[in-house]
Amino acid sequence: MVIDVIIPRIQYLSPSLSIRIAAGEVIERPASVLKELIENALDAKAQHIYVDCEGGGIDLIRVRDDGCGIYQEDLPLALASKATSKITQEEDLLGISTLGFRGEALASIDGVSHLSLSTCISSEDHGWKIDTDKSIRPISHPVGTTVEMRNLFYNLPARRKFLRSEKSEFLRLKKVLAQIALSYFQVGIKAHHDGKLIYNLPSRKHSTEYEKRIIEICGQSFFKNSIYIEEKIGELRLWGWLGTPEFSRKQNTLQYFYINQRMVQDRVLSHGVRQAYHALSQGGYPTYVLYLELPTNQVDVNVHPTKNEVRLAQGWQIHNFIAGIITDLLKQGKSSKQFKYFSSFSKISFTDHKVADNGSVYPIQSLQSENNNSLFGQAKEIILKHYLLAENTTGLVIIHVPMALAYLVQRKLYAQGDTIRKPLLFPLALKVSVIQAEWVESNKDKLLQIGFDLSRLGNDLIILRQAPDIMKGADFTIFLATLLPKFINKNQKDLNLALIQSLIINTITPELFSNPSFSSQQETDGFLQELASYFQQNLSPKIKFWRKISKREMDSWFTLAQD
Ligand SMILES: Nc1ncnc2c1ncn2[C@@H]1O[C@H](COP(=O)(O)OP(=O)(O)OP(=O)(O)O)[C@@H](O)[C@H]1O
Ligand SMILES: [Mg+2]
Repeated sequence: MVIDVIIPRIQYLSPSLSIRIAAGEVIERPASVLKELIENALDAKAQHIYVDCEGGGIDLIRVRDDGCGIYQEDLPLALASKATSKITQEEDLLGISTLGFRGEALASIDGVSHLSLSTCISSEDHGWKIDTDKSIRPISHPVGTTVEMRNLFYNLPARRKFLRSEKSEFLRLKKVLAQIALSYFQVGIKAHHDGKLIYNLPSRKHSTEYEKRIIEICGQSFFKNSIYIEEKIGELRLWGWLGTPEFSRKQNTLQYFYINQRMVQDRVLSHGVRQAYHALSQGGYPTYVLYLELPTNQVDVNVHPTKNEVRLAQGWQIHNFIAGIITDLLKQGKSSKQFKYFSSFSKISFTDHKVADNGSVYPIQSLQSENNNSLFGQAKEIILKHYLLAENTTGLVIIHVPMALAYLVQRKLYAQGDTIRKPLLFPLALKVSVIQAEWVESNKDKLLQIGFDLSRLGNDLIILRQAPDIMKGADFTIFLATLLPKFINKNQKDLNLALIQSLIINTITPELFSNPSFSSQQETDGFLQELASYFQQNLSPKIKFWRKISKREMDSWFTLAQD
C-alpha cells in the first residue's frame, strides 16, 4: 500500500511536446507488453506486483499492483494515445525520472489485443473498471491497478505468426521479470505462467538484503564468483556485482546494465566493461549486474520508442571511468571501495552540459589528465611525418604514430565483440580476382559482424561501404589487397568467424596508417591517454612503438669541453 497518495492526473501531451517524443513500434511481442505494464506499476510506486501469464503471454498477461491507482475520470485517458501523467512540458524531457513518459504504451497494447483495466484509489471505497468495449463500471478492487491483456495480435494475424513458440516467448517474459527484479529490489514480485509459479521474490528493502535477490535471479554460482563494486565520483555512482574473468560465459545472457534503474543496452558502456575484462580473460562473455547512477539531466531517455536505449552526455568519459574502475578492480580481485580512478574525472562538471549525441562515433578519448605525468605525457609536436614528441615528468617520449595506431586498432579489434561500424566518406570499389569476389559474397554476413560492410558488385568487383570506426584513417586499399589473399590461401569457402577476425587483426600493420593526422591538441592528448591505458594492460606488446629519453640522459649528452 502506498503511503504517499498523490495521484498524478493524466493529460494529453501538447502537439509540440508529442512531436519531440521518439515514436514508433512499441509492442513487438508479449515480453514488450509485460515490460510496459510492470513499468507502469513501478511508476505508480507499487510495492508489490503480481503477474499472471498464459500461453507464453500471447493468451493472457495480467499485472496487478498496489500502486496509487487512477482517478475514474482519467480512465479513458489512460488508454488514449499521447496522454500521460508523467510529463507535462517540454522541459520535463530533460530530466525524466519515471520509466514511462510517452503516454503510448496502453494505447498501443489496446490496439493489438483485448485490454481491460481495473483500479481503485485510496480515497474511494470501491474501484472502477474500463472494459474492452471502453464501458466503465464500478467494481470491488483493492487500492492499486490491474491491467489484463488477452489475445495479443488477435487482429494482426501476420504479426502473430511472426511470434516464436510459446516456450521461447515465455523465456522472454522471464527475462523481463529478471531484468526488473534486479533493478527494483524493494518491490516484491510474484509471477505465474500457466498456473505455475515462476518467481516469488519478497521485497528486499535494505541494501544488505540485495544479495539475496541477486542469488534468486542470477544464481548462487554467479554470486560466489563475483566481486562487489562501489565507486562514487562527484555525481556519478557505479555499483553492482562483477563476475570474475574465470566466470565468463559462452553467451551474453548474464549481463545487466542499468542507468538510473532503467535497464539499457548501451554499446559504449558495455564496450567499457568488455575492454576491462579483455585484458584479463581468455575470452567468453563477462558476467555482471551493474548500476550507474547520475543526474537525470545527463541522460536522454527519449531516444528510442522502446526506451531501452539512452544517450549520455559525456558518454566516453563515463566509458573510461567504468573501464578504469573495472580493470583495476579485477586486477586487485577485491572490493574497490577505497579505489579512485582518474582523479581528473571528479573535475568534470555535470551542471553546464547539455545531452550530446554520442551516437555510433568512436572518438579518440579526449579525457585529459589534469597534470601531464601520465605514461606518455603531453603531446608536443609531430615531427618527420611519423613521430610524435611528447613530454612527461621524466623526460621526452617519442612515439612512432603509425606503429602506435596499428597497435591500438589491433587491441581494440581484439577486445570488441560487436564492432561499431562507420560509413566510409567515399565507398571504396576494388577490382579483385573472381575467386576473391566470390569469397566476399559468401562471407558477407560474417564480415559484417566484424564491422566490414563489404559486398560483391560485379564479377570481379567488390565494394567496401562501412568499416569499424576504430580503423578510421587507415588505407583500406592496402588493407584489402593484403587481406583477401590470406582468406583465399586458407582454401576454404567458409572460414569461421574467429579465424577471419584473427586474419584481420594480423593485417593491421603500420603501413595502413602512414599518413597520420590529428585535428586538435585535445585529440592528440586523448590518443596518448588511450594508448597508455591499453599499454598498461599489455605491458610487452609485440609492436614496439615508443621510446623514452630521460632528461638526465639528455643532460649527460652535453658537457663543457675541458681544457
Ligand atoms: N498501473 C498503473 N497505475 C497507475 N497509473 C497507471 C498505471 N498504468 C497506467 N497508468 C496511467 O496511465 C497513463 C498511461 O499509461 P501508458 O503506459 O500508456 O503511458 P506512460 O506510462 O505515461 O508512457 P509510456 O508510453 O512511455 O509507457 C500513465 O501515464 C499513468 O498515469
Ligand atoms: Mg507506461
